[in-house]
Amino acid sequence: MKKLAHSLLEGLHRLTRSERLDRVQEFCGLSPEDRRVLSGEQPFPIEVAEHFIENVVGVFPIPLGVATHFHIDGREVLIPMAVEETSIIAAASATAKWVAREGSIRTYSKGNLIIGQVQMPNVRNVAHAKRVLHENRGDLIALANACIPGLVARGGGVRDIAIREIARPDDEGMMLVLHILCDPCDAMGANLINQVCEALKPRIELLTDERVGLCILSNLVDGKLACAEVIIRNVDPLIGKGIEEATLFAKADPYRAATHNKGVLNGIDPILIATGNDWRAVEAGIHAYCARSGSYQPVTDWKMVGGDLVGHFEAPLAVGTVGGVTRSHPVAQVALKMLGVNRADELARICAAVGLVQNLGALKALSTVGIVKGHMQLHTANLAIAAGAEVHEISAMRERLGKVLEREKRVNLSDALACLADLRKTDPTAVSQIH
Ligand code: MEV
Repeated sequence: MKKLAHSLLEGLHRLTRSERLDRVQEFCGLSPEDRRVLSGEQPFPIEVAEHFIENVVGVFPIPLGVATHFHIDGREVLIPMAVEETSIIAAASATAKWVAREGSIRTYSKGNLIIGQVQMPNVRNVAHAKRVLHENRGDLIALANACIPGLVARGGGVRDIAIREIARPDDEGMMLVLHILCDPCDAMGANLINQVCEALKPRIELLTDERVGLCILSNLVDGKLACAEVIIRNVDPLIGKGIEEATLFAKADPYRAATHNKGVLNGIDPILIATGNDWRAVEAGIHAYCARSGSYQPVTDWKMVGGDLVGHFEAPLAVGTVGGVTRSHPVAQVALKMLGVNRADELARICAAVGLVQNLGALKALSTVGIVKGHMQLHTANLAIAAGAEVHEISAMRERLGKVLEREKRVNLSDALACLADLRKTDPTAVSQIH
């Protein structure tokens, strides 16, 4: 067992929110203004929101928490997570602590190319179209790069064009689909690649004398994968075997694979939201990647190797640290500072690592004690609020609901309503204290 150096972030959950902010500010080197953004003292400017989307009527607050104990590629990273679900952050932190003590997290990337698709829906002369596209490949790449000079100046741009032949599902002939392969540097790249695809359309129609249909990026970004590996050394064989068995279940059954992957995304989506990234794009990419063999598979794999438990994550994770709202959303800016990342690739690898650790925590709980007790213990505060408890009644309610959970092994809203009525009977001043 490794002895961990004492971190500023130790025991964060036992502190008040203000003390917690002090520690986070110091650990991440945040400015007083960053702190005001996080604490809500500097409210989110509604005028900014008005420019993000249409028909704005308000903003929708989601709690922003931090997961601790992540040592990724040898660096301690504080993970900002914007999420409404109880127990995700507690589980991530507890599991990361276990990994930090007993093992390690390593990450890497495979490739850096995103894909834009230019579709020719019903090609009359496939051989001719393929030949002219092939002959003019260099010119098409040059034309593509001419519409993204800023990206080219930063070292990115279109690198290659591939042609795919796809039979139409209605048996009415063939489609040709051009894949425009582009290095987006630190952008997610959707706007860049969509513009490139549309700009190529007239030239492709002219060259081939065929009609171009859709011009749009693909979210199945399999030319740009984020990978993470977690090792727990000399794991308790029963725990290791349980986690391995849980993975086999997910490999054999798509009903289980869907839930397994939801547990992984519990770790990833909150980081995407906190950093202003397009989580729908990442979700679509990960699910499509998991179905690439024709059967829906788990995105992670856990195996016992000798006495060690070894887990892997590999999937497309197209994120950006520039572009989109990452630069214009004040909280996203602070979240990126907290993570200490400038590069999209680093952010993607952190997401992969947190997803893998989150999955490990869920599988460990599910294959040993189950998740109900731990989750519901933390969820009692939500039940109390749903039952109508005032802020000052929540601790007493949590205590009472905790006892119900201990006794009955389950707890629900009816229990919360009964507990609240009982609390107010025994302490009639309870409800009026804040008025
Ligand atoms: C709940 O949000 C996530 C889990 O269902 C994941 C899993 O079953 O692996 C616990």
